[in-house]
Amino acid sequence: MENNVFDQMAKRYDTEERMELAKVVVKAVREELRNSKSKSLIDYGSGTGLVSLELSDVVGSILLVDSSEQMLEVAQAKISHRGISNATVLYADFTQETPELKADIILMSLVLLHIPDTEKILQTLFNMLNEGGKLMIVDFDKNENINHPKVHNGFAHDELKNKLAKAGFKSTEMKTFYHGQCIFMKQDASMFIATSIK
Ligand SMILES: C[S@@+](CC[C@H](N)C(=O)[O-])C[C@H]1O[C@@H](n2cnc3c(N)ncnc32)[C@H](O)[C@@H]1O
Repeated sequence: MENNVFDQMAKRYDTEERMELAKVVVKAVREELRNSKSKSLIDYGSGTGLVSLELSDVVGSILLVDSSEQMLEVAQAKISHRGISNATVLYADFTQETPELKADIILMSLVLLHIPDTEKILQTLFNMLNEGGKLMIVDFDKNENINHPKVHNGFAHDELKNKLAKAGFKSTEMKTFYHGQCIFMKQDASMFIATSIK
């Protein structure tokens, strides 16, 4: 797989700052995962598992998917070390090819901003969900202070909601849940959580 800046940073990805931010994300996501004990969850762009490996007690199974093999190596080491029996990893990039997978819940935490074609990945994830399934996106709100050739500068709520509806989702609840200093390319920023139902 052509990549990857994340391969180079995998071993030093889990900094204090990222772990703190992940805690905030975990709290927001957990609130949306009540009554999910029997559900399968794909954490797409899982990285080192900072978010989903804290959710193994609230869902039935977790598949951590990432296009960086090195990030997954770190995640796998945590799974083995902590003895998490319901989590596995998969090295894949759904923008390149889509395996025959189905899930009840798909989570994307700080990943959509790294994927150039938003509409296409939303459609792919929609197709992968079971009927009634849930897509949870955590990402940054639109931030005009940021300008980077490979990263979206966040997302405007209305625009993203329209894209989710176009992909086929019946409904989307979206809210900004956190404001932080220097959290998005060294700029102050806010984060949203969007929950869409197929
Ligand atoms: C900023 S990290 C977020 C990691 C984790 N979700 C978290 O919140 O801590 C972005 C992750 O997305 C992965 N990623 C980027 N583009 C991807 C793609 N097209 N397919 C799968 N993973 C991708 C990167 O390899 C990286 O691990």
